[in-house]
Amino acid sequence: MKKFSIAIDGPAGAGKSTIAKIIAQRLKIEYIDTGAMYRAITLKIIRNGTDINNIDEIIELLEKTDINFINGRVYLDGEDVSEEIRLPEIGKLVSQVAAIKEVREKLVAIQRDIAKNKSVIMDGRDIGTNVLKDAEIKIFLVASVEERAKRRYKELLEKGIEVSYDDIVKEIEKRDYIDSTREVNPLRKADDAIVVNNTNKTLEEVVEEILNIVCKKV
Ligand code: C5P
Repeated sequence: MKKFSIAIDGPAGAGKSTIAKIIAQRLKIEYIDTGAMYRAITLKIIRNGTDINNIDEIIELLEKTDINFINGRVYLDGEDVSEEIRLPEIGKLVSQVAAIKEVREKLVAIQRDIAKNKSVIMDGRDIGTNVLKDAEIKIFLVASVEERAKRRYKELLEKGIEVSYDDIVKEIEKRDYIDSTREVNPLRKADDAIVVNNTNKTLEEVVEEILNIVCKKV
């Protein structure tokens, strides 16, 4: 089969990564979680004690940062940080870090490089509008704020991370606001993306809906 790319964008907690992982397995293609990359950089900034307004220091830090995906795990400078990047303190800061132009330039270059020679499904906020503008399939996945907050709440509880439901709603709303109003590549539906609504649907229903769209295009 010819190489193809699937871009999945949408607001926080819409279910992009869960769905993208299943589709990647079914189609035997690689899944790239671009949010994990922004989270990994945020973790490095926090660990380093860097002020997120100190752009010069962040640029210097970026030059010394290596981010990698191996078998679905995220590595920051060789260390597996897949669990740590999901902690609430990362979620609170990540959108501010992702709004920094230099951070986006570095990560977008890595993302394009990974997708260069193979079929991929990539999820994020600017994949269909910027990273993989020529993707054969573009999905914009949405769900109600309540549904998205419930999902995040359950995910974190299952991992043993104590959070309040109201805090999750606030965090999701704040992240969506920053992500969709930032200057550089904001969260936006690409003109040629197909909207899939993940409210009140089972995981299998949404996966089937997207696989049907993919089958018609490749
Ligand atoms: O996908 P996830 O919710 O883990 O992403 C974390 C954050 O990373 C988002 O809220 C957004 O600020 C940023 N992000 C981005 N562009 C992407 C992927 C994620 O700005 N392509």
